[in-house]
Amino acid sequence: MDKPQAEENDKLILHSFISGKEYKPVILRQGSGCYVTDISGKRYLDMKSGEFNVILGYGNSELIDYILNAGRKLCYSPKSHELQGILASKLIKLLPNFKKVYFGTSGSEAVEVALKISRDFSKRKKIISFWGAFHGTTFGALSCTSDPSLKKPFTPLVPEIVQCLTPMDISPKVELGDEDRVSIALSLLEKQINMSNDVAAIIVEPIYSAGVRIIPLSFLSGVKKIAEKYDIMLISDETGVGYWRVGHLSYLNDCAITPDILILGKGLTSGYLPLSAVLVNKKIAEYYDEHPFLHGQTYTGHPLCCAAAIKTLDIILREKLYKNVEKMGKLLKQKLSALKDKYREIQEVRGKGLLWAIEFQEEVNNKVEQALLKTGVIVDALDFTNTIDLAPPFIISKEEIEHFVKCLENVLTSLQ
Ligand SMILES: Cc1ncc(COP(=O)(O)O)c(C=O)c1O
Repeated sequence: MDKPQAEENDKLILHSFISGKEYKPVILRQGSGCYVTDISGKRYLDMKSGEFNVILGYGNSELIDYILNAGRKLCYSPKSHELQGILASKLIKLLPNFKKVYFGTSGSEAVEVALKISRDFSKRKKIISFWGAFHGTTFGALSCTSDPSLKKPFTPLVPEIVQCLTPMDISPKVELGDEDRVSIALSLLEKQINMSNDVAAIIVEPIYSAGVRIIPLSFLSGVKKIAEKYDIMLISDETGVGYWRVGHLSYLNDCAITPDILILGKGLTSGYLPLSAVLVNKKIAEYYDEHPFLHGQTYTGHPLCCAAAIKTLDIILREKLYKNVEKMGKLLKQKLSALKDKYREIQEVRGKGLLWAIEFQEEVNNKVEQALLKTGVIVDALDFTNTIDLAPPFIISKEEIEHFVKCLENVLTSLQ
């Protein structure tokens, strides 16, 4: 198809988070490794792996063949099928604190499920989430998300969902020690709980993938203690940061702050097909041995999505790709820190593993994103954090990181 026709066709799409008038699409045609190519043949290094999910890179033929073979055997199943069980047993073997799993189609659906489970199991109503977190765009998930611009047109949202402050939101301009902020935020949380005595769950995004705000572990372990004290469920939404994005299969679980419900998404299938997972602890698993689990959709636990996840997991473990996350993450950190020392435009670089944000002094993040796009590099500019965010595929090489850093340096020099 020629470019003008593809652009006309693209106008038929309701694109997410932007008006048709503003949208200047890069229309992609193909991808290989860490690179994608648009309809005009221009190649881009994808430093955000699609939507942070294409962790094995594009065009992995082993994964594609496995999905195709699974499809030839069983393209759909309205009931249980063996791939779903195989995937569940692989995940639970790696995460033995969890005993059952629900497979949905998106991070947003997984959040809905976690909220429904916590209300059903506890017979309480209230849910607490935190300022700045993103939990998705369906009604329950959106109600837990804090960005007012995403919520405003859709009010009233789900009742009894409130946001508490993280330590980073406690009077950021006032001189306070980090631990003081942690204890103030914890006491505000406890106050909120005591106000109603009806809290079913606290949902946390332990590292905000948007803008890469890293919540202090002392705060998260304080939240866990409070949740235990009041018998409230702790939900860790690791859609963005789980699945080794920051070096851990589950960040919170690895930090010994085990949640009652763990949400995974994004990288589960390396983005080749849609899948999310809601893992629940023993108490909840036993509850659903006795009670019906009142949630399900046509594509719940789809066999091809499970096949994609099984093969993705096998490849990650066989190739020890989490080691490359660690190694390339260190290289990225070192290179970005050197850029920060050199360019006054950069306020801060922060991240873990292969999830990094570069925060700017002034509002140049969109300019940087567009200039990088011109040179053939895709990053994610976020206005409310004034950052560009990076989440490259786990297969990224030293040469590709060096290429990215060189392109970024050229862009920063051109801003001088
Ligand atoms: C922490 C978190 N939760 C939920 C979601 C929503 O996931 P999805 O876009 O698959 O619905 C996202 C997506 O970015 C996320 O980062």
